[in-house]
Amino acid sequence: MKKGFILLALIFCASLLFADGGPTPETGEVEVLHWWTSGGEAASVAVLKELLEAEGHTWKDFAVAGGGGDQAMTVLRSRAVAGNPPTAAQVKGPQIQDWAAEGFLTNLDDVAEAENWDGLVPKVIADIMKYKGNWVAVPVNVHRINWMWVNPEVFKKAGAKIPKTWAEFEMAAKKIQAAGMTPVAWGGQPWQEITVFETIVAGVGGTDFYNKTMVQADPSAINSPTMVKCLETLKMMKQYTDPGAPGRDWNLATAMVIKGEAGMQFMGDWAKGEFTAAGKKPDVDYIATHAPGTSKQFLFNVDSFIMFEVKDPSAKEAQKAMARLILEPKFQEVFNINKGSIPVRMGMSEDPFDIPAQLSMKDFTASAKTGDLVPSMAHEMATSRAIRGAIMDTVTAFYNSDMRAKDAAAQMANAVRSAQ
Ligand code: BGC
Repeated sequence: MKKGFILLALIFCASLLFADGGPTPETGEVEVLHWWTSGGEAASVAVLKELLEAEGHTWKDFAVAGGGGDQAMTVLRSRAVAGNPPTAAQVKGPQIQDWAAEGFLTNLDDVAEAENWDGLVPKVIADIMKYKGNWVAVPVNVHRINWMWVNPEVFKKAGAKIPKTWAEFEMAAKKIQAAGMTPVAWGGQPWQEITVFETIVAGVGGTDFYNKTMVQADPSAINSPTMVKCLETLKMMKQYTDPGAPGRDWNLATAMVIKGEAGMQFMGDWAKGEFTAAGKKPDVDYIATHAPGTSKQFLFNVDSFIMFEVKDPSAKEAQKAMARLILEPKFQEVFNINKGSIPVRMGMSEDPFDIPAQLSMKDFTASAKTGDLVPSMAHEMATSRAIRGAIMDTVTAFYNSDMRAKDAAAQMANAVRSAQ
């Protein structure tokens, strides 16, 4: 009789505990919006899904194709406006602040404190992830923009030398063209064009000029002879691209270098993810080196996830698990090896990483010391979306028309001024 009563009492207490407001169930679902759809990207994001599912959570994939994420951001905004945002989304740079200011985001301070994120993430990056001192985003990696991906066979066949300056680039490109191959694998999409453009700005103009134009967006620095030179360098490249360039996706451009159809591509190191996915080895099948004139600079691009405010306690648990896993050493290693980036978590061993990643790790630290570690404008780390849009529209209009470089520089300064 007494035993029966105790058992009933226990069941009653347990039912109270799991009713609303009681301890949360342990597993839940996260719906993740991202734009990682190429071969290398898909292999990378699969790592996070597996780790999360190993803890019993469910990963609902919401991939929006389109390199650079412009399409993904449009879809995210329309879902948020409709009151139906996903639980987690790949969002970067100053946009994190915008989402937080609008009150959409979950505060991640409890995970950050338990896991000591402040001690693990470089301050320059942690500051981007915080809103009013609170963690509202979790960083995934550090990508570098100013790379040149080279097929050594193509260069050998053409008798060309890997360029270190834009003058040397022209010499090499002419030789490759004369040998019947495409010098530059070009993806003719606006975000790819500004990715190459900002690399030229850093290489031709130097770090101060890059900061004045691409970070501070100073109209008088933009409307200048140095900017004219940068624009002319961009236009000069066009004659070394193929007729299939307009609209081409970045990973298809990388495939041209992998297959030996083109000599080189200028792209961030997510391109390395494609070489890795194709089983290619650095310094054997391909060479990864600094884009002309940028050996000291590191144009950084940090991927990150924001978590939207949710009511369901099990979804909250899943969000926290995802945030925690992202900065754990296991994910940082496997993901970044596949993705082509380097860990954002400090103190990771360099040993498992390949030659380009080790070079990137070394350069990240060195460039931070010399003031040459600068945020990417093209990848939304440096300016507002409006200013990036103004620069992108001008560069694309210039690249795809007969506009004079001088007029384009003036137009860019005006467009930026109206976006401020
Ligand atoms: C992202 C990368 C992604 C690339 C191509 C960049 O903006 O940071 O993670 O691989 O776009 O889509």
